[in-house]
Parts: sequence; C-alpha cells; structure tokens
Amino acid sequence: MPTAPSLRTPARLPLVAPSILSADFGALADDCRHAVECGADALHLDVMDGHFVPNLTMGPALCAGLSRALPGVLLDVHLMVSHPAMFVEPFAAAGAHHFTFHIEAVPGVQGVRDLVAAIHARGMTAGLAINPPTPFAAIEPVLSVPDMILVMSVNPGFSGQSFIESALETTRAVAGRLRSDQRLEMDGGISPANAARVREAGCDMLVAASAFFGRPRQERAGVIASLRG
Ligand code: DX5
Ligand code: ZN
Repeated sequence: MPTAPSLRTPARLPLVAPSILSADFGALADDCRHAVECGADALHLDVMDGHFVPNLTMGPALCAGLSRALPGVLLDVHLMVSHPAMFVEPFAAAGAHHFTFHIEAVPGVQGVRDLVAAIHARGMTAGLAINPPTPFAAIEPVLSVPDMILVMSVNPGFSGQSFIESALETTRAVAGRLRSDQRLEMDGGISPANAARVREAGCDMLVAASAFFGRPRQERAGVIASLRG
C-alpha cells in the first residue's frame, strides 16, 4: 500500500496547494484532477462555519468525495470555524491528511497542545493559523507544537481579496524559528506577481485560489510553476 502523503516529509519544496474555493463546484473532481496534473502538491479545502467568518463553504462530505475521487492526493483542510475540535474526527474519517485550526479560535497554550494531540491521534498533521491583525506574540509560545504554521495574508472568509503586506513581517518572524520538519504556509491574495516575495520571507507552502482556478485551464500549469519559482 502506498504511504499516505505527509507535509512532514515532502518530496519537494516549496509546495503549492490550490484552494478549491475558487474551483468549479459543478465539476469539482475534474477541476481538482486537472490541478494535480498541473503540478499541485496538495488541495487546500477552506472550511467556513458562518460564525468564525461570514461565509459558509464545505464540510467533511465534500472532503470524503474528493478523497474517493483522488486517492493519494494530499488534502490540506483549513478550518475557519469557532469550534474546530468538533471536526477532527469527521475530517479524519473523510480522508483528510492535514488539519489547520486558528489561534483566534483556540487561544490558550494548553488548548493548542490538546487539539494538536487529538489531530495527531487521528493520523493527521496539524497546522496553526494566524490572522493578519493577530500579533505574532499570540503564537510564539506554541510555535514548536504543530507541524505547520499558516500565516493568513487576507482576513479569512472569501477568495479574491488583496494581499496584506504586513503578513510578510509575521512570516519572517516565524521563519527561522521552525524545525526543518515544520512547514510555513501562506494563504490569501497570492499570485505569480507576489509569490517570490512570499517565498523569500520563508514560506515553503503557498496557497492560491483565484490566481489558479480563476485562470483558463491552459494557463494553470504555468501558474503553479510561477508560484513554485
Ligand atoms: C481565505 C481562504 C483562502 C482563500 C484564498 O478565507 O482561507 O484559502 O481561498 O483565496 P485567494 O487565493 O483567491 O486569495
Ligand atoms: Zn485557506
């Protein structure tokens, strides 16, 4: 049986993860299969609850469908929800490989440790996300705990927003503090125009929704190559 893909031991870096939030939901598996053929290392699933952020998107059933349609493709699930612990088991059962939650939803050191342990116990890697207005000090005490730090470069809720430059400062503060088996992901407003600066700030995993799925199919492999650099 092939080994499940893991962010801890990537075949190459940086990783590029198209966010399916901008995919064609009427042809989702086909759009995602094409993304993998274009060189995507993972698919990024933006889960929103209408409470932590003002939008509703997708849940475990959609994740399970993609897992069936594209077995072996790393599913990077980003929980923008107020109660992420509720969804560890459902997403693990749905075939997710990676589960990111927000420091703004789980602010205490012990809460972060406990949730990361629960995610690991269900066989997934764990990510901790920080929103643009949240100070770096909020994640500093727990930097070593998750397998990935996700620095948001938009206020979460929607794809297609403009990149927030100050997120690069947070990225620089995080980079250099991580072990080699920890990933540093950035998400929001990333495109071929700013990807080099994102990578130079220390990011080794880039998410893009509109800059990838918003382009015609024949351009998408080129977008991934530009994001990877
Ligand atoms: C934002 C989501 C992002 C979003 C990125 O709330 O977490 O993953 O889909 O979209 P773009 O790349 O279009 O900014
Ligand atoms: Zn996201």
